Amino acid sequence: MRQFFQSSLGKKYVMAVSGFLLFGFVIVHMVGNLQIFLGPKPLNRYAHFLQSTPELLWPARIGLLTLVGLHIWSAVRLSAENKAARPLAYAGNPAPVAASYASRTMLMSGVIVAAFILYHLLHFTVQTPSVNLTGHDFKTLLDSQTNHRDVFRMMVIGYSNAWVSGFYVLAMALLCLHLSHGVSAMFQSVGLRNERSEKWIDRAARAAAAIIFIGNSSIPIAVLLGYGR
Ligand code: HEM
Repeated sequence: MRQFFQSSLGKKYVMAVSGFLLFGFVIVHMVGNLQIFLGPKPLNRYAHFLQSTPELLWPARIGLLTLVGLHIWSAVRLSAENKAARPLAYAGNPAPVAASYASRTMLMSGVIVAAFILYHLLHFTVQTPSVNLTGHDFKTLLDSQTNHRDVFRMMVIGYSNAWVSGFYVLAMALLCLHLSHGVSAMFQSVGLRNERSEKWIDRAARAAAAIIFIGNSSIPIAVLLGYGR
């Protein structure tokens, strides 16, 4: 077991499996959030269901934290190993022309997505007033009918700040860039991407990344354009 985690192949598997599960979370989270377009009631009911089901919420939180930790650990270790194994630049080796922009920027896009997640947690989960830049305290937003948290109003107020919304859209663009390569790489690591399937896998990865970008960005953009206000 230890040997497996120490090998490059083992770390590639850890990265692929953790990436796959995080990708699944991003899809489920996006579908949940898109309920904002059904109006306050369905969204607030959904948020209340999650908040009042600790037997679902806490395992999910601990699982996500573990997956993010494993994903970052395998990325850092693999990147250090690749650097150590790479021939020196001055040895007359040509630049790796086959590598796409997305693949060359995985570490950069990953770091910015991680910074986004930290900000996002402070913004909507911890609800630290100083980071939302609107002068509101999200903890005081309650639905007048149910007295439950008003997540709909929290999102509308939160995204009414153009700087905050701009940062979300930028982060979603980088997440999209990260996933457009990451999903293909995941299939490659587990040996499912070959000459016959690579074209379709790469297309599906780019399509999934684009859907995530459009779905997630549509929320801050719709609010900036006046939705819910
Ligand atoms: C524009 C896109 C997004 C919107 C509108 C959004 C919305 C939200 C909201 C409203 C919450 C708080 C839920 C509640 O307190 O009931 C939340 C929590 C969270 N979001 Fe997002 N989110 C977005 C994108 C993302 C992305 C891309 C990720 C990860 C890569 C992410 C990860 C999380 C996590 C980990 C939580 C904490 C869940 C918890 O433990 O309570 N979100 N999000």
